[in-house]
Amino acid sequence: MPLARGLTGRVELVHSRALELTLRRGCQPSGVFLLVDGRSRGQIRVASRAWHMYRIALALPAGPHRLSIRTSATRACAMPWLDRIDAVPAAPPHMALGAAVRWDIARSDPRYRAAFTAHFGSLTPENELKMEVVEPARGRFEFAAADGLAALAGSRRIRGHTLVYGNQLPRWVTHPGSPWTRDSLLAVLHDYISTVVRRYRRRIDTWDVVNEVIADDGSLRPTVWLDVIGPEYIEHAFRWAHAADPTARLFYNDIGLERDTAKARSAVRMLSTLRRRGVPVDGVGMQDHTEVVNYPRQSTLETSFRRFAALGLAVEITELDVGTLDGPSSPGARAEAQARAYRDAASACWDIAACNRLTVWGVGDAASWIGPAQTPLLLDGSYRAKPVYDIVRRRLHITNRG
Ligand code: G3I
Repeated sequence: MPLARGLTGRVELVHSRALELTLRRGCQPSGVFLLVDGRSRGQIRVASRAWHMYRIALALPAGPHRLSIRTSATRACAMPWLDRIDAVPAAPPHMALGAAVRWDIARSDPRYRAAFTAHFGSLTPENELKMEVVEPARGRFEFAAADGLAALAGSRRIRGHTLVYGNQLPRWVTHPGSPWTRDSLLAVLHDYISTVVRRYRRRIDTWDVVNEVIADDGSLRPTVWLDVIGPEYIEHAFRWAHAADPTARLFYNDIGLERDTAKARSAVRMLSTLRRRGVPVDGVGMQDHTEVVNYPRQSTLETSFRRFAALGLAVEITELDVGTLDGPSSPGARAEAQARAYRDAASACWDIAACNRLTVWGVGDAASWIGPAQTPLLLDGSYRAKPVYDIVRRRLHITNRG
């Protein structure tokens, strides 16, 4: 539905990342300039006299904005040559079922590769985009593993995991030759984020910019980033990631946000503050590492989804696995309990419009980080789909591959 017509209009954006302008036939301004809140934010070249739908990728925080269109028409264009302006979600509207993938297996195991490509529509590198892998020595960037996974992903969506994390950091960051100063570590973080995000510009559609920085009591976890830079490292990270790729969606990702906990409430406060300050944060990733004995029910997940969606954020389940070892003794009962946990997660993601991707943390049980004995994933130890795989796809209304 049109947000504004004619030359200017006020729009309330729920943090969409793109605007679509429909120009009327016949008018041919040589250039169209879009101003947002009085600042020029892009020029559109009008190619011909046909109807045109022009999309401009913009980073706009949620809230009211004043759009105005200026033309550099060589001749007066009788209004209304601009038919409508629509704010559209930059993210693909379709639902995706994704998996975390490991290059150390993918590069040598054709069964593993085939299992991923046959069952999943989105890829998250499990470790290959973490700083210890990508920049093992200062200024030396290693992208071979991540590039291998991007090639395996083909046309599928990719989640970039993760730019700023307290774990899996290279030793030169955690044990520098001489102590970091605030400015020197900020420079390291800026260079890292800019280099990595620019490399995968328009290929990785969503980044876990910051991962697991809130402790269970709601305080910020002590990491080298917090200790040396201060809490503002989080805002810097999002702004630098956006500057490197304005079309990517930028997420905060954490474990334990699925319920109404001190941690989840702290995450809501943090993200709400960031967005109020115009920091380009688009979404929250709920990892949802769980088990059959205590998995979050659908209603619990939906309540949590709504809490973050109310901030204008997208929501994803980003690392779902359901451990079974603490479950019922019989394999059949364990499988049924696991299916209920996966069914609830997929139903919650489908029911809440802000959720358009569910990612499981591994291609199959044999490759799970918590070990095959937990049988935590959708494909079994031989990468065959369990019955729960089809339950998840049906609940997500996915007809083709994940
Ligand atoms: O690459 C080395 C290899 O050279 C060495 O031979 C081997 C044995 O020491 O270790 C390998 O590194 C391992 C790495 O995974 C790559 O396989 C590390 O020891 C191991 O600790 C690391 O575990 C990863 C874990 O994050 C580390 O925190 C898991 O695979 C990965 O699934 C897990 O993923 C995290 C998410 O990133 C964030 N959310 C929680 C999730 C589970 O912890």
